[in-house]
Amino acid sequence: MRRPAFMIPVVIAALAQWPAMAGSAPAGSDDPEQVARGNRIYADSCASCHGAQLEGQGDWRSPNPDGTYPAPPHDADGHTWHHPDSLLFRYTKLGGREAFKDVPGVKSAMPGFADALSDQDIWDVLAFIKSHWPERAREYQRAATENDN
Ligand code: HEC
Repeated sequence: MRRPAFMIPVVIAALAQWPAMAGSAPAGSDDPEQVARGNRIYADSCASCHGAQLEGQGDWRSPNPDGTYPAPPHDADGHTWHHPDSLLFRYTKLGGREAFKDVPGVKSAMPGFADALSDQDIWDVLAFIKSHWPERAREYQRAATENDN
């Protein structure tokens, strides 16, 4: 059976139903110390799938034979910057399986990091990712975050 070209709208619908989750205040992408901490976390925990240069895995819009998707890029070529902070945080903390648990037939290869990373670690790695975006993408994502609150 053919599946939708990409499933992020499904992700958003699924995540909208999650209860609000406490987390430490997200910092912006400009604090060099936070970005440096995030860089180390990214290298240890994310680069194996999302790429050392945030480039993602090849052909990331097409499903793998097992029905999961390859990891998308986190740079401006991907869609990470389309999503508000709350979604990025929850997706990283709880993983895709949790996001899709009520969506039949969707399989996720994105692990949750609730046990491996603190909330602050997650904000740090997101700050590192944001530091790679051009100003336009950052503005878009800031607006998405404001509208989400
Ligand atoms: C085992 C491979 C793997 C690892 C390791 C991994 N991811 Fe993912 N990630 C994925 C896949 C695959 C997706 C695509 C969506 C899905 O399958 O759930 C994804 C999607 C995402 C998304 C949602 C899509 C987007 O671009 O907004 C975010 C955010 C994300 N990952 C962040 C991270 C962060 C941060 C780390 C490191 C702490 C990380 N991921 C580590 C595989 C991985």
